[in-house]
Amino acid sequence: MRLVVFGAGYVGLVTGTGLSDLGHDVLVFDIDPAKIAMLEDGRCPIYEPGLADLMHRNQRGGRLSFASAIPASFDEADAYFIAVGTPPGPDGAADLSAVMAVADTIARVARRQAVVVVKSTVPVGTCDAVQARLASAHVPLEVVSNPEFLKEGDALSDFFKPDRVVVGARSEEARQMIRDLYAPLQLSGERLVITDPRSSELIKYASNTMLAIRISFMNELSRLCHATGADIHSVRLGVGTDSRIGRKFLYAGPGYGGSCFPKDVQALSALGRAHGVQMRVAEAAHLANDEQATFLAQLVDKALEGVMGKQIALWGCAFKPETDDIRESPAVRLATALLERGATVVAHDPEAGPNFAKHFGNRLTVKERDYDALEGSHALVLLTEWRSYRAPNFAEIKRRLLPSGTGLAPVLVDARNIWRPAEVLRAGLRYQGIGVASSRPVDRPSQR
Ligand SMILES: NC(=O)c1ccc[n+]([C@@H]2O[C@H](COP(=O)([O-])OP(=O)(O)OC[C@H]3O[C@@H](n4cnc5c(N)ncnc54)[C@H](O)[C@@H]3O)[C@@H](O)[C@H]2O)c1
Repeated sequence: MRLVVFGAGYVGLVTGTGLSDLGHDVLVFDIDPAKIAMLEDGRCPIYEPGLADLMHRNQRGGRLSFASAIPASFDEADAYFIAVGTPPGPDGAADLSAVMAVADTIARVARRQAVVVVKSTVPVGTCDAVQARLASAHVPLEVVSNPEFLKEGDALSDFFKPDRVVVGARSEEARQMIRDLYAPLQLSGERLVITDPRSSELIKYASNTMLAIRISFMNELSRLCHATGADIHSVRLGVGTDSRIGRKFLYAGPGYGGSCFPKDVQALSALGRAHGVQMRVAEAAHLANDEQATFLAQLVDKALEGVMGKQIALWGCAFKPETDDIRESPAVRLATALLERGATVVAHDPEAGPNFAKHFGNRLTVKERDYDALEGSHALVLLTEWRSYRAPNFAEIKRRLLPSGTGLAPVLVDARNIWRPAEVLRAGLRYQGIGVASSRPVDRPSQR
């Protein structure tokens, strides 16, 4: 099939590259000419494992191309994918201007019957609004909702082996078209959830918000653990082994981030408000997430007996491992809070360092090597659980850090609870996790 994908971001590039790898002829279109120039030059503007290689293979094979203007050959596409951003507006509701701009372009250029597939995360009713917008087209176009569920850092595997593909379509013809498109990914059994566009749109927000709620609840429990002396690891094990609950998404940490959870939880609340339904649980998840960010800043401050005038090393800038995406990253929030409190911040990330440096300008320093961030720092805060941070040399960390308070050994704040406190203590460092008791070298190592 001949396909056009609008938006060369995380979703558009993965979708376009994945579809071209299945043998389709794909054009990825973006209004950012600098991004398109990079892509035409064979450079991938984002870090996503495996994406650059797969892109190159399909570019060489002539199945994948990029443009910031629609060439005539694509006036006759079989399907147009909308994968542009839907950022939050001032009230949290999704800003649909890019989606509607794409709809107008499609209405203008389409010269043969096609489906318009909305992959962007959009509020309920958007597909119907896009359908109305396409009324001026010269040919019949049917809008289909097909929300994207990829996880950054594992996006290609999600594309090629999806848990499920949700499709919201009104006609049997459009459903069949999407079924045919995804058939090569469903060889071991169909995993399509076929419904109407409005339910499909809501499924996306409901899925992300459900996951965000689990995280926020565990984060609240972690704060209760600090207050009561309970241990979040034990609580998670005890709760997660209930088969009705399950083990996933029960990890306390610095709060959820990224380009999806924060915005989608707020957009769902805004959608509820617009329809007179108060989404109290979603609103609480959002508030609890904000509180966790504040709590982490306070935890660091307390561990250092005040951060004013001190230098703090951050390991991890990306909102999760295996991506360079720092949108709504806990590291951005913590660094901002620490700078406001008068601390100096030195950061490291295996991939997201340049984005972090660009975001903060000269307000902080980003190092290329992880241990270099420790030189002259009074504490190390681990914010992203990259593999390369999992088994560090704690003796080397101790050698490089300065004492973090009066008579206090340097402290490691493990905001992802990935280190074993006993190992940290053996190196003569203090350990502070989330939802676990703080421990010092003189303490007996915990038996976890
Ligand atoms: N990033 C994720 O993990 C993820 C996962 C699932 C769903 N989503 C959703 O998918 C959508 C896209 O997300 P993303 O992270 O890929 O966004 P992104 O910001 O990385 O990319 C969006 C791209 O769209 C381009 N664009 C804007 N207006 C355009 C127009 N009129 N025509 C063509 N291109 C245009 C921008 O230049 C940009 O390159 C959002 O609705 C998001 O919520 C994202």
